[in-house]
Amino acid sequence: MSDDLRFPPGFLWGAATAAYQIEGAWDADGKGESIWDRFVRRPGVIAGGDTGDVACDHYHRYAEDVGHMAAMGLGAYRFSIAWPRIFPSGGGRPNQAGLDFYRRLIAALRDHGITPMATIHHWDLPQALEDRGGWVNRDTALRFAEYASFLFQALGAEVPMWATHNEPFVQAFYGYGTGENAPGRRNPWAILPVGHHLLLSHGLAVDAFRAAHLPSAQIGIVLMIWPHHPASPRPADVRAAWRIDGGMNRLFLEPLFRGRYPEDMLRHFGRRLMRPPVRPDDMEIISRKIDFLGVNSYTRLIHAADWRDLLTGARQVPPRGPTTAMGWEIYPDCIVEALAKAREYTDLPLYITESGAAFNDVVGPDGHIDDAARTDYLRMHIAAARRAITAGADLRGYFVWTLMDNFEWAQGCAKRFGLIHVDFTTQRRTWKGSARFFRDVIARNGL
Ligand code: FCB
Repeated sequence: MSDDLRFPPGFLWGAATAAYQIEGAWDADGKGESIWDRFVRRPGVIAGGDTGDVACDHYHRYAEDVGHMAAMGLGAYRFSIAWPRIFPSGGGRPNQAGLDFYRRLIAALRDHGITPMATIHHWDLPQALEDRGGWVNRDTALRFAEYASFLFQALGAEVPMWATHNEPFVQAFYGYGTGENAPGRRNPWAILPVGHHLLLSHGLAVDAFRAAHLPSAQIGIVLMIWPHHPASPRPADVRAAWRIDGGMNRLFLEPLFRGRYPEDMLRHFGRRLMRPPVRPDDMEIISRKIDFLGVNSYTRLIHAADWRDLLTGARQVPPRGPTTAMGWEIYPDCIVEALAKAREYTDLPLYITESGAAFNDVVGPDGHIDDAARTDYLRMHIAAARRAITAGADLRGYFVWTLMDNFEWAQGCAKRFGLIHVDFTTQRRTWKGSARFFRDVIARNGL
């Protein structure tokens, strides 16, 4: 095997999940309602009428799931903590039973030598805070910092890697702008305030983390970074792709790493929407030094100029190659380009915190799932990650999305991204071919 398909020693191989997508037990042991618990009950918003009420029942089956991780040889596991399990109404007195669940999970991971990476918030805001304005309300950022600070004190000694948020863009745009995700608000004017308050809460949580003195732990944030390409070399299309890059990537990278919003975005949105509600000191707080950046990378998008879309002046054109079941183009260089984009802003250690694909898996008569398409996808994207390292990226780890089939938000349970197949009737877990492939990649530290 040629050396350059091996990864640097110590490279972290992991899998990622999110609380609402796998835990189930939506109202167990004093857990409060989250915006997803509320949203999924609206008729027609989730494909197939699915909910995360039970999902993979991971809350009760975590020990079995950690066993699968260990058998796969995972070096790390990225999961998220459900805020309403810890603070059922967003703040006040913590719910000990909810905290104990994460203590048990983290202990099981550590027993198997699996490094826990905890995401503090992966979209499941307590409904009680949404009732007070959610992320449009600046106060939610302060509540988030209190919640994060509590976690650092309670779990900080056991968790070496923390991520404040997962994909603030998605939360702001799809949660509050288009309403495809919880809380399902359709208010374009909310997008920039929500984005700003998420970023502010991130910075406040970083301050709380430093104040907690956890010298062997690190903190970062996870961004979705997808490359945006113009449909043609025409200047109007090039500008359209740059605007989308601004809204989805630079609107978050630039405040985090340069302490300011991109000028072109302020001009663009200033004309159409309000500006982010920035107060003195906010940008300094947002750009506090962090320890690593997590990058979620699935595909690229291609855009043409089109002012029928008043918000962006752009229209997405169809993919130019084969796609996954999500309709996302299979474009392995998305990883190389996303990491190059990150490097324009920071020389921090980088992690691919999500990479993976949904396909329509077929369970064979013998119960096996031969998901060759997913294995190919992973092979090509892991090779791309290796190319990015050769190109100079300080990439420290690669996390597959996702450990096991789960509740894929508005797409319900039909879109399967897992290395492990889940039968949602029996909760039986079955390794797919891709799980065995990934086990071998980990064992060889490369392809
Ligand atoms: C990402 C989310 C993750 C999952 C994948 C498919 O945007 O972070 O929860 O839904 O997409």
